[in-house]
Amino acid sequence: MQTDTRIQSFSRSLRFSDKPLFKDADILECDHIPDQVLFRDDELEELAFLIRPGLRGQRPANILCRGLPATGKTTCIHHLFAEIRHLPGTGGTLIPVYVNCQRSRTAFAVFSTIYQELVGHAPPSSGIPLRRLMDAVAKALQSGRQSWGESRGETGRRSPTQSERQSERQSGKQSERPILLVCLDDIHHLIHEGTATQILSSLLRIYLDYPGCRVSVILVESDLSLDLSRALDRSVTSSLCAQEVFFAPYTATQIRGILKERARQAVYPGVVAPVILDLITDRTTAILPVDLRVGLDLLKRSILRAERAAHPAVTEEDVAAAYGDARVTYLRGLVSGLTGKERALLSLIAEMEEEARVREEEARIREEEARIREEEARKREEETRNREEARNREESGLRETDELDSSGEKGESSENDENDENSDISKNDSIDMIDMIDDPMKRRPTSGQIYSRLQEMIEEDHRRRRSLDAAAKAGEVAAATCAEPEPGYSTGKRGAHTPTSCTPTSWTPFPHTPFPYTPFPYSSCSYTSFYEHLRSLESYKLIGIKGVQGRGKTSAITLRYAAADVKRLCEAEEARQGEGEKMEKR
Ligand SMILES: Nc1ncnc2c1ncn2[C@@H]1O[C@H](COP(=O)(O)OP(=O)(O)OP(=O)(O)O)[C@@H](O)[C@H]1O
Ligand SMILES: [Mg+2]
Repeated sequence: MQTDTRIQSFSRSLRFSDKPLFKDADILECDHIPDQVLFRDDELEELAFLIRPGLRGQRPANILCRGLPATGKTTCIHHLFAEIRHLPGTGGTLIPVYVNCQRSRTAFAVFSTIYQELVGHAPPSSGIPLRRLMDAVAKALQSGRQSWGESRGETGRRSPTQSERQSERQSGKQSERPILLVCLDDIHHLIHEGTATQILSSLLRIYLDYPGCRVSVILVESDLSLDLSRALDRSVTSSLCAQEVFFAPYTATQIRGILKERARQAVYPGVVAPVILDLITDRTTAILPVDLRVGLDLLKRSILRAERAAHPAVTEEDVAAAYGDARVTYLRGLVSGLTGKERALLSLIAEMEEEARVREEEARIREEEARIREEEARKREEETRNREEARNREESGLRETDELDSSGEKGESSENDENDENSDISKNDSIDMIDMIDDPMKRRPTSGQIYSRLQEMIEEDHRRRRSLDAAAKAGEVAAATCAEPEPGYSTGKRGAHTPTSCTPTSWTPFPHTPFPYTPFPYSSCSYTSFYEHLRSLESYKLIGIKGVQGRGKTSAITLRYAAADVKRLCEAEEARQGEGEKMEKR
């Protein structure tokens, strides 16, 4: 009976409301490519100008698109590539290939994407060396020359001679030689992975190994602090010579315009009133750096909330309720794109930030207690003074009566002694407090502190592994997996990934053990690569790094999202990936 009621209410929740608000909900999905790119005419024009020579058979300039996240870089590239593909009469002279470097981080993955675009299907995912894959790409490009243009019976790897090029120009055949235009979107992933130089150098110098093959690249980057000329080898930057196209952040008016156009296509008229659009725009631009994706997500969630509450149009309450969800969803997206190491580090920072917050809260309580103590001491002092004054008045009254002339200095001196004692206590307390409250290094974890905690966790994980090894040998795996770490080595600080409980997870060194544990993603880590991972988290706008003047080279690290949300989402992502791996193994 109870179950029936629950099922009924569940199916009620699943049913769409009688009056749907959405015309097409997909329009508000984050991967939707809009028909119209608003407010980017100048950037599109500049890109088209730089690419145009490719349509005449000349190699286009290499391009670097830079701009903060959600400034329309990827959208513009998709638009341009779609236009190139559909241009009548170009006969495939310019072959655009889009590579998402977050997904394809190795040379093999990048060349597989290119191969797939040229050949129409993916190469075998394993068993072929990179060199063979590159050969296949070059051959596809060369044979493409025959199928796209007119076959000239060329089989070898010979560059056309000058006279051949001249006769090509005269006969107009030059335009038939295809050029690969590869967009490496979010190039910082390749830089962090250490594969950028190898990939770029293979692409830009492909003509050396495969004469006649020509490639131009478009690099897309959202980390404005990244200096590509320092991140890449000199040999690569010299053949790159990229022309920069900058994508400025959208203004509030532009954000409103984009949201308005999306709402117009996604919902029925009147569902999102102008005042609601203003509110969503205000909320979006209040978070710095301004991120259009937050606005699009907030718009979608507000409409969903309104639909759920059976409102005929989105209300201010719907927007307020959706606001919290939007930030968390955005954060979830960021966390899911991190590598295991980056995620472990982020989780560690969240934990240390949480500890710092607790310390800060304790310091605040101590400060409040000291203030109360100070107040009480002041009151006591006032009471004593009042009492003394009353006694003095009384005594001087008596003296007047007795016509005696004497002073009451003794009482005053004892009063001063008492005051001095009280003020000493409060002074000492406040010195402590000022230290705790005003010193930013005590409040926020620094890169140095994070690095030493990371080292502790690596060490603890090694001990854990050793004890599991030993226990496995002794046939006591289950007991060892559940056991608390040996007393003595722990510093008492527990990391996010410190294995303490018997949670079923992704991988185990002992397939037969019923209680596998999650190995810590770092087995060792130099300060340089640790700092690179910090930089990578900064590039996703998950943390802020602030240089601190002081002894040693250390920076204050601040988390840009609520520590509790970050920790929760990191753990959920880890569990999700663990489940995925288990399914794959099965
Ligand atoms: N000018 C625009 N007109 C319409 N929609 C836009 C425009 N610019 C961005 N968008 C939308 O905003 C979202 C983010 O855009 P996009 O992915 O192009 O940003 P990006 O600059 O590539 O961001 P990132 O650097 O984070 O990859 C997408 O959903 C896209 O449809
Ligand atoms: Mg992008």
